[in-house]
Amino acid sequence: MAGPVRFEVEDGIAVATIANPPVNALSAALRGALLDAVRRTEADPAIRALVIAAEGRTFIAGADISEFGKPPLPPPLPEVCAALDACPKPIVAAIHGAALGGGLEIAMACSARLVGPGAKLGLPEVKLGLLPGSGGTQRAPRLMGAAAALKLMVDGEPLGAKAAVAAGLADALVEDDLPAAAKAQAATLAVGPLPEPVSRRDAGLGPREAFEKAAAALAKRAETEPNIAACIAAVRDAYETPFAQAVAKEREAFWALIKDPRSQALRHVFFAEREAAKIPNMPEGTKPRAVGRAAVLGAGTMGGGIAMCFANAGIPVRVIETDQAALDRGMARLRGTYDASVKRGSLTEAARDARMALIEGAVGLDAASDADMIVEAVFEEMGLKKEIFGTLDRVAKPGAVLASNTSYLDIDEMAAATSRPGDVLGMHFFSPANVMKLLEVVRARHTSPDALATAVEVGRKLAKVPVVVGVCYGFVGNRMLARRTAQAERLLLEGALPEQVDAALTGFGFRMGPFAMSDLAGIDVGWRARKASGRRAPVADALAAAGRYGQKTGSGFYLYPEGARAGVPDPEMPALIARIAEAEGVQRREIAAEEILDRLVLPMVNEGARILEEGVAARAGDIDVVWLHGYNWPAWRGGPMHHADALGLAHVAARLDEFARITGDDSLKPAPLLARLAAEGRGFASLKQPG
Ligand code: 3HC
Ligand code: NAI
Repeated sequence: MAGPVRFEVEDGIAVATIANPPVNALSAALRGALLDAVRRTEADPAIRALVIAAEGRTFIAGADISEFGKPPLPPPLPEVCAALDACPKPIVAAIHGAALGGGLEIAMACSARLVGPGAKLGLPEVKLGLLPGSGGTQRAPRLMGAAAALKLMVDGEPLGAKAAVAAGLADALVEDDLPAAAKAQAATLAVGPLPEPVSRRDAGLGPREAFEKAAAALAKRAETEPNIAACIAAVRDAYETPFAQAVAKEREAFWALIKDPRSQALRHVFFAEREAAKIPNMPEGTKPRAVGRAAVLGAGTMGGGIAMCFANAGIPVRVIETDQAALDRGMARLRGTYDASVKRGSLTEAARDARMALIEGAVGLDAASDADMIVEAVFEEMGLKKEIFGTLDRVAKPGAVLASNTSYLDIDEMAAATSRPGDVLGMHFFSPANVMKLLEVVRARHTSPDALATAVEVGRKLAKVPVVVGVCYGFVGNRMLARRTAQAERLLLEGALPEQVDAALTGFGFRMGPFAMSDLAGIDVGWRARKASGRRAPVADALAAAGRYGQKTGSGFYLYPEGARAGVPDPEMPALIARIAEAEGVQRREIAAEEILDRLVLPMVNEGARILEEGVAARAGDIDVVWLHGYNWPAWRGGPMHHADALGLAHVAARLDEFARITGDDSLKPAPLLARLAAEGRGFASLKQPG
């Protein structure tokens, strides 16, 4: 049979082998072919049993997510599962790789499940804002107990082969020759009585109290995440509602959630993350260079964290400082971070020692001569960086990738200090570097494709999410952040209080607002940078000038009585800000919470539009990925550009025009790309993807 399933019969056992690359997602064609396989098995008296197996890196990755939100195509997955469940002949699933979502639902509708060592069984629908929608909420509880099944669903993390067997989700682990074992199992089942379909194994649900306890522990999450509430309700139905009816209710809940803006945002994130992994405009056949050893220049805040990333990935790394004292301080801080993980229990002592053994300290740039990749993380000064790149040009081995972790500076200028600009690029980590997932990989004017591919590949090895961006002040993330920071300060002058500004963002889903963040990081940091570059932020500058640096001095935008970690509003703040506003000639007024939020977020979107227009980011989705992984933008809001698309760009453009009018700040006017898309009734998502 042509198509996504190969159907072969040998000795009375049919084997339906799924081949639907890349991940055997359950497209309409595959669903149809699986249904056909069941029908043929039923109809052919020569066939005694059926094995469902798959080729490729996964068993079945689940429903085809790209079909969601489009008109449904027949046959629906629940119908395929029902056919498997009702088949009068035994069906064995041979699961060699990931069986996720609908993939596991297919497997659970079979009579038996054998797993290979590489199997992973999970119901990750929750990560897409959904719940399992093809009987998963009913069959998983009957196989592994309702409490455990609820956990599988709400965590969204798959179980490995052994754990799946231990949990009852799979029947047995087959170390080698899974297809042969599955055929043998099918033949055995064919001669005995047909195993009871999972749909009827009510005894497997386990004690109701255990389930209710697990459900009660999720009450808080269920309040804000509708799909968690739906998972709980669906599993409860397993106790209270006949199977067929419960599956119908589950399906209804699934379709309702598909339309939920949260799920739409999370699905956007799923595809945006995978798109971002593709480097645009790469010559065919570009291969990354091998990186066996790395060097990091500077053992400060960032250098130490970056060195840890290399060591965590098993890549030996040398941390280089100007003098022994600075090196000792840096190495001690780095070790302290690992020690803290050991203390917390998230790292074993042996793992810490193994990682520390990969990190070597050295003084002087000559120590970078054997590294395949060198990441510069010294002070943010162009003069110093150019000097360093000049020296690296002399000492680095041919073909070494020379990267800068600069936050704002021009990588082209650094590249020009070398005779090998093709090897130079930016690798912009986010603080704390050993924790934050984002890596902006900055492609400079002369960066060669293979150097770029190397940085992206190494980024992935370091467990980062690399996003390729172009050269500009602040790259994608910090350039947009600057817009938000400016508006936050401006809102204070116009009438808002720090707690109102912060509440707008925490209400939106951020963990922290800009002023709480400023107090945590230290108001003096930005103050010094502003002084050096002649910029102003009247309120923040006044606080810093008064020695109110934030948490570390006990007061900043908030007060921190007796070393408290959470700030409390300062009763003097309104008067303080009013005085500054008057001096600045800004009239204060009541500002609605909705305006505060839009004033913070929409100017960022506007900057994002400029970034797209300039080609600094290749895709709107890349900008979203930057914000999700570099700044903890709430995933269920999809990222700033998706948020703008969801609001409608015409609305966004009108709001920006209004803000430009209110403030007299023309930079708030819609950027040309945004204005054009708004006029055409389009969104950022409609822009053509680069090659
Ligand atoms: N639907 C459509 N496309 C999918 C897909 C899916 N379920 N899963 C993966 N893909 C695509 C990716 O978009 C990517 O496409 P691209 O090459 O064009 O960018 C390609 O397959 C490869 O994906 P990855 O890069 O993620 O490959 P990995 O090997 O790193 O990971 C995986 C494989 C673990 C299966 C991972 O892709 C994954 O987690 N997929 C999603 C699993 C999931 O969420 N399943 C549940 C779907 S919802 C459902 O089943 C509803 C049901 O209850 C009714
Ligand atoms: P830091 O001040 O903590 O550390 C810089 C270190 O570089 C110091 O230990 C210093 O002794 C060392 N150094 C100076 N000259 C050197 C030389 N010639 N050779 C070797 N080491 C030298 O600074 P931080 O915060 O780690 O920043 C480093 C770079 O990373 C800067 O470019 C900064 O813009 C960037 N960055 C900083 C982030 C942050 O949140 N701190 C985030 C992302 C990037």
